Amino acid sequence: MKETESLLSIRDVSNTYTTQGFGGFGRKEEKPVLDHVSLEIAQGEIFGLVGESGCGKTTLGRCVLGLIDYEGEIIIDGLRQDRKRRKVMAKTVQAVFQDPSASLNPAKRVGWLLEEPLRQKTGRPWDKRERLRRVDEVLDLIGLESAYKSRRVNELSVGQKQRISIGCALMLRPRLIIADEPVSSLDVSVGAQILNLFRDLHENLGLALLFISHNLDLVYYLCDRIAVMYQGRIVETGTAEAVYSSPKHEYTRKLLAVGLSL
Ligand SMILES: Nc1ncnc2c1ncn2[C@@H]1O[C@H](COP(=O)(O)OP(=O)(O)OP(=O)(O)O)[C@@H](O)[C@H]1O
Ligand SMILES: [Mg+2]
Repeated sequence: MKETESLLSIRDVSNTYTTQGFGGFGRKEEKPVLDHVSLEIAQGEIFGLVGESGCGKTTLGRCVLGLIDYEGEIIIDGLRQDRKRRKVMAKTVQAVFQDPSASLNPAKRVGWLLEEPLRQKTGRPWDKRERLRRVDEVLDLIGLESAYKSRRVNELSVGQKQRISIGCALMLRPRLIIADEPVSSLDVSVGAQILNLFRDLHENLGLALLFISHNLDLVYYLCDRIAVMYQGRIVETGTAEAVYSSPKHEYTRKLLAVGLSL
């Protein structure tokens, strides 16, 4: 991959959580989670990160978003990530999480929620007409009619809510979306529609995706390349085809042997 094509470069990233037992009165313990993780995502690439529960996938996503400290280096579109740059980075990287019911205020109207990133993060005022135009564009991108603007979140199905979460992430025209188990709280057919929406967004907008999942089948279906994480380390990276058809690492072979999902 040429340097100019790289959108996200994670270089030698390690992190440790400090935990303290007994409600904060116990002994402090350092818990290493990420262990020298490196990976590259190209502009417009769909990249899958797969691994069993607790291996560190969400933690890596949080490092990329600048939410937690780490050692090593994360370069996003040529800029080094650090926690002070979070607002700048928000225009390039956005996130979608597992449970849209937890991340969207149920009492708010869809239009208000979609406009929120424009109020918060842009560094310039957007006039009302501009905001409404962007909301309509994004509703179209996520496959909902313009009339959904005036619906309240608690009137929506869980699949529609996940579309709105994706819409909120799209408002500022990011280049990369980190999707952390985005279909795990959906039933299979609704989940498949959301995967197809990600694929359409990738094709129509050239959007890159870091798709995090514990399900190797989903990752194989959606992604160009895959990294397999095990106990905080990347044990294998390759095209989806290569990882699926000729896994190199023993852990990946075990995953495939137990029925293709972790
Ligand atoms: N805020 C925190 N404080 C202390 N330990 C944490 C914290 N968040 C996560 N951990 C621990 O770090 C490890 C990695 O967690 P992480 O959530 O990144 O895993 P994951 O791969 O996303 O798992 P899952 O598939 O269940 O979402 C786990 O052992 C978890 O218990
Ligand atoms: Mg997780």
